[in-house]
Amino acid sequence: MKSKIIVTGGCGYIGSHTAVELIENNYEVVILDDLSNSTKETLDRIEKITGTRPTFVNIDLKDAKKTERVISEHKDAKAVINFAAHKAVGESVQKPIMYYKNNLYSLINILSSIVNNNIKGFIFSSSATVYGTPETLPITEKSETQRPFSPYGNTKKIAEEILDDVIKSTENFSAISLRYFNPIGAHDSGLIGELPSGIPNNLMPYITQTAVGIREKLMVYGNDYPTKDGTPIRDYIHVVDLAKAHVLAVERIIKEQQEKPYETFNLGTGNGFSVLDVINSFERVTNSKLNYEITERRPGDVPKLYAATDLAERELGWKATKSLDEMIKSSWDWEQKLRSKE
Ligand code: WQD
Repeated sequence: MKSKIIVTGGCGYIGSHTAVELIENNYEVVILDDLSNSTKETLDRIEKITGTRPTFVNIDLKDAKKTERVISEHKDAKAVINFAAHKAVGESVQKPIMYYKNNLYSLINILSSIVNNNIKGFIFSSSATVYGTPETLPITEKSETQRPFSPYGNTKKIAEEILDDVIKSTENFSAISLRYFNPIGAHDSGLIGELPSGIPNNLMPYITQTAVGIREKLMVYGNDYPTKDGTPIRDYIHVVDLAKAHVLAVERIIKEQQEKPYETFNLGTGNGFSVLDVINSFERVTNSKLNYEITERRPGDVPKLYAATDLAERELGWKATKSLDEMIKSSWDWEQKLRSKE
């Protein structure tokens, strides 16, 4: 019999890629999503890629009663992966209450329902933002966490703390937090990828939208950071590599291989690239020039962020596989697919 996995936010960017990898690894997937930043069409696309349509429940996880009911209907699940969250950094500064409510009410309702229904495993979609401005690089999982700059980032840090407390007080329940660096790229099929609503906050969709003419010009936020070319350094990771790490985390939780009931892993490539590296790679891959201009720093940006990857490699048996050029080509192919449908 297939092991059932509940995937909250499974119609979203990382959730949909993970649903595909889970199905391809013989898991049964149940998606819970309120479609606030995704569409139901994603289910057709997951089906097209895998030949299997995941079970879908349209649910607002802020509603405790509904969450309890739906989770109890799927109490035979081996684990829950929680992707459901708002993720726009700038918006979270404008609407902190909305972010704390959405990201934390839903987490608390899910955890409560999991514990009540005796589901054994939980995987949390966390972020490298919990490291704040790191003192030393690369960032290991032992690096101190700091209060993130944005309310969005703070929901991730608080969520990890809540999880830690719940794990300590609950028998037969284990969890893994996966701290993502900068996810980019899309599925090779061209059927699923990131669908940014409105003006993108993140670098990669901003670049591809500029190149197709939706945005006039990329603003590069500062070139006076203490880095090789003055622009900030990040660890970009392909979304399919990221999705595969979730399958390994699920396997680990199910087999109860982990030494500790609560573990944390960084998910990055371990390579840092500057904003100008990304632009140069984009120009090389697409054989075109990108319209950009250096402007003021963006508040809250950290000069350098890249992961130490040895723990994930050793314990999860996971390693990123794609080069920067491959990841950028993947983002570009997806943007072109999106525009060809318009
Ligand atoms: C990368 C670099 C910008 C846009 C954020 C969240 C993090 C995670 C991923 C997601 C920075 C520069 C960007 C632009 C630019 N969360 N940039 N012009 O800030 O590392 O991480 O997204 O759910 O929690 O904090 O990613 O892609 O926004 O920026 O120059 O128009 O690109 O200054 O140096 P970031 P990013």
